[in-house]
Amino acid sequence: MYFDNILEKVEKIQKKKDVIILGVESSCDETSIAIVKNGREVLSNIISTQIDIHTRFGGVVPEVASRNHVMAIVGVLESALNQANITIDKIDAIAVTYGAGLIGALMVGVSFAKSLAYALSIPLIAVNHIRGHMCANYISYKDLTPPFIGLIVSGGHTAIVEVKDYTTYNLIGSTLDDAVGESLDKVARVLGLGYPGGPKVDKLASEGNANIKFTKDSLKKSYDSSFSGLKTAVINYVHKLEQKKKDIPVSDICASLEYEAFMPLVEKSIRACKEHRYDKLCVAGGVSANSFLRNKLLDAGKQNDIKVFFPELKLCTDNAAMIASMGYYNLMNNVGISDINLDAVSNIPL
Ligand code: KG4
Ligand code: ZN
Repeated sequence: MYFDNILEKVEKIQKKKDVIILGVESSCDETSIAIVKNGREVLSNIISTQIDIHTRFGGVVPEVASRNHVMAIVGVLESALNQANITIDKIDAIAVTYGAGLIGALMVGVSFAKSLAYALSIPLIAVNHIRGHMCANYISYKDLTPPFIGLIVSGGHTAIVEVKDYTTYNLIGSTLDDAVGESLDKVARVLGLGYPGGPKVDKLASEGNANIKFTKDSLKKSYDSSFSGLKTAVINYVHKLEQKKKDIPVSDICASLEYEAFMPLVEKSIRACKEHRYDKLCVAGGVSANSFLRNKLLDAGKQNDIKVFFPELKLCTDNAAMIASMGYYNLMNNVGISDINLDAVSNIPL
């Protein structure tokens, strides 16, 4: 039977010089499969995005996302094997995002990964998507090792974490309501900028001035954040101007939104480094592609002798290379070794 000897296989893999992991990611609107050696060397990282499909609806439609994952996933696997120039029998283990994310979308990746692991009789490793984002930094910086403070900012998550070692994370602060990327996307939608809004807000903000004050930071002393009040304040501001038939200063709104959303995150991340005595800060998640956030964190890092790391841009948003990397460290540390009963879970803690 599949699991009779899987733990022995895990032990054997842990002793190998080179470990090749196939990662599967389908938590939102990207179907991705990657092949990664020793957690750091990307042999292939194929990402089939559904952005064009969801743009029509102004955001991700979960049912549409699931269907498109089903249609794309076999082709994505073939491309990943071709690009890595590898046959499937060379894969040591399958790593898959099992949460957090859209449940139907996750189920496609999890079912696919389970079938592959079963058919190849190799270990199946469950990966937490939020932790996976952080591993994009291990791929971009080959010498980077934990411990450090992490700032994870994406469409679904906003968290400040203490990464004690590859598989031990301690949550320091998170959002009390919306994720930061989610609020950027919602404001962008009201401004008619299309989906996903983050990159468009980024570009327009660079042409504007942060001269509008929307809210007060009521969580100044905490490590937690809140973005729902800011989002509502910006949307109300736009609607009022529309009602009065006044021009909408889109670039200034984007610059002010970024300032109010990101400056508290910069301050909290640096404070977390100082309080917990770390001189490294690693940023990850789709929003870590933001140029204003990058610049402000780099400046604050310099002023406080803290080295700030960001993944290369293509590894900021969802991809399976980061999942394969997390899968490697999970496997090496006996974390997430799963069986055929692995379920997708939409909400999982860090
Ligand atoms: O990590 P990701 O691909 O998906 C989740 O796990 O949520 O992040 C997607 C988010 C979206 O909200 C998108 O608007 C945002 O990342 N994003 C950006 C930028 N590029 C992507 N936000 C701000 N500036 C960017 N350059
Ligand atoms: Zn993500």
